[in-house]
Amino acid sequence: MKTPAAADASPKGVNRGVAPVTYGTGDRPPRGDYGRARSDYTCEQDHAQYTAADHDTYRRLYARQLQQLPGLACDEFIAAVAHLGSPERIPHFDAISERLQRATGWQVVGVPGLIPEEAFFALLAERKFPVTDWIRQPEEFDYVVEPDIFHDLFGHVPLLFVPAFADYMQAYGAGGLKASRLDACELLARLYWYTVEFGLIATPQGLRAYGAGILSSAGELRHSITAPAAQRVAFDLQRLMRSRYRIDTYQASYFVIDSFQQLFEATAPDFTPVYGQVRAQINLHGEIEAGVVLPGERSFSV
Ligand code: PHE
Ligand code: FE
Repeated sequence: MKTPAAADASPKGVNRGVAPVTYGTGDRPPRGDYGRARSDYTCEQDHAQYTAADHDTYRRLYARQLQQLPGLACDEFIAAVAHLGSPERIPHFDAISERLQRATGWQVVGVPGLIPEEAFFALLAERKFPVTDWIRQPEEFDYVVEPDIFHDLFGHVPLLFVPAFADYMQAYGAGGLKASRLDACELLARLYWYTVEFGLIATPQGLRAYGAGILSSAGELRHSITAPAAQRVAFDLQRLMRSRYRIDTYQASYFVIDSFQQLFEATAPDFTPVYGQVRAQINLHGEIEAGVVLPGERSFSV
């Protein structure tokens, strides 16, 4: 498919698409070309523009993470990662979508990078997962400040093949649209952070990671499961929504679910009253800093 004709007609050098997303404290512009994006922020994956170096970066990132998974990643993730296709080259989104559609009705769609919250929620609610279509530069091999295709694909997409998790992600999107109306996005974002990005799951073999931020990180995967300094607290929705998080270092706290079914059921009720209760708790007792275990709280030792 081509870019829309209207976009082609606009003058060169002008941002012809949707507004770029700015975020964070600095004035660093986002890297992606938002001129390519449609009004829902999706864009075509221009697979031909990946260079040999790009494919090589993908191959090396994939290999480094894959060999770390046993004993650290949950079994569902390890079983599903092969659905991404060849680890040698950056995959085609269309090929992954075809397999995903059959498994759980999800698709992956390209985006130029981070997108506004509401656009993100709307895509998830339609079972479309936005994947950044560019890959980090070789000098960013260990750390990239914005999510790239490796984080988005390798970290997030395998669990979309797991029905209970796939349903959770869609429910999250619908819940996000509602949270926007209720001005509760900050509380809901904590749920995403501590589950989708940095979640741990208890298994008979021990704790395992299912969060994408952990699974796509070279160092945090082992840290999250084995570092004695990190706290690992049993999942509790309201407790979690009171908890702050760090975006610039490994997490000081992780939340542990027993199963994806538990997560889905705990988050199924209408959050409208929950937001009110959490706000009341925050007004009374304050927010909870990362790394804190409350008296009487169930935490996991390693
Ligand atoms: N039950 C939530 C609500 O009413 C929706 C939701 C589900 C949110 C799962 C997040 C995760 O807002
Ligand atoms: Fe992510």
